Amino acid sequence: MTVWGLFIFVVVLGVYVEYTQNTNTDSCSTLTVSHDSLLVEYGEPVELTCSIPTKPSSQYKLGMESQINPVEIENETSVMWRSPSLTEWEVNGRELFCFLSEPNKEQCKKRVHLSLYKPPDSVKISSESSVWSEGQMMKLKCEIKNVGPLQNLTVQWTRVDQNKNRTVTEMTYGSFSSSGEERKSGNATATLNVLASRDEDGVQYQCAALLKLEQLQQPQVGTSEPLNITVHYKPIITQPSDGTLSVTEGDSLTLSCSAHGNPSPQYTWNSPGNIMTVSSILMISSIQSEDQGQYICTAYNDEGSDSVTVMVNLVVDYKPIIAVFAVVGGVLLVTVVSFWLYERY
Ligand SMILES: *[C@@H]1O[C@H](CO)[C@@H](O)[C@H](O)[C@H]1NC(C)=O
Ligand SMILES: *[C@@H]1O[C@H](CO)[C@@H](O)[C@H](O)[C@H]1NC(C)=O
Repeated sequence: MTVWGLFIFVVVLGVYVEYTQNTNTDSCSTLTVSHDSLLVEYGEPVELTCSIPTKPSSQYKLGMESQINPVEIENETSVMWRSPSLTEWEVNGRELFCFLSEPNKEQCKKRVHLSLYKPPDSVKISSESSVWSEGQMMKLKCEIKNVGPLQNLTVQWTRVDQNKNRTVTEMTYGSFSSSGEERKSGNATATLNVLASRDEDGVQYQCAALLKLEQLQQPQVGTSEPLNITVHYKPIITQPSDGTLSVTEGDSLTLSCSAHGNPSPQYTWNSPGNIMTVSSILMISSIQSEDQGQYICTAYNDEGSDSVTVMVNLVVDYKPIIAVFAVVGGVLLVTVVSFWLYERY
């Protein structure tokens, strides 16, 4: 019974304390504070004024309750809390109150929401290698120096491809490495893994430091220079494709090969009879029967090669033969008809 009684007493007391605290906070209409909410850049001055319109008849105390530089005055209608250069990270998330105390009255309190932040000294982006080789997993590094509070830091990666298409990736505190206390400023290093595909060639990456603070309208506090990516990849032949070509004997033939690759590919054509031409274009002025067969284009660079095979078949040109037959046939017909007419008449 006594345990239960004590328990109920404690609960009731707790509720009462909670209740009075709530009513004391922000409940006094005569008390005015210059800022309800304030964002201060590290090292910048800060001034807060707490005032009352008229002096109360009885004795009173007006002041600022704070972790740093608390102030309290008597017999004045305004009090100033200031720092010529605010560098105390302790102000973040701590209680900061303007108060008025009068005897036999509940204390009036006005809360000030103060935040300190530090834009980074530098934001640098780097790649583990200046040229990437297709298929490798590469790391991009973003180094942010002296930024805070670290726990509010988000590292933002922006990728812009050759079509100006933007992709944004964000990393919140905990998904990058950092040195320093989370409530204070420190250094951060974020890593982005990128597969070096041919689509990454010519892409631009940039990283930025964002401080996600309620009072900060523009969270982006620092940006790196853009970093252009170069990817080396093996050629892929775009034309011609594997296939067969029929060419009339005596005609000219031009075979042109082209490929996508970085660095720019070099080309060879292998013709029947083991003839090699170091060029992307192969020209034959008059096709003869010995030119029949496989023509292989190979495009290559440091990364590898690709090749296609074109079969060239010779076709006999029947047009002159048809023409001869037509002439002979015509002559024959005329002769027969003339002969027949001659016989009749
Ligand atoms: C931009 O990128 C997104 C995602 O990678 C893709 O779905 C979209 O088609 C791209 N748009 C253009 C215009 O390339
Ligand atoms: C951040 O980096 C700077 C320079 O590299 C160094 O002087 C400083 O001690 C580092 N700070 C922390 C918290 O590690």
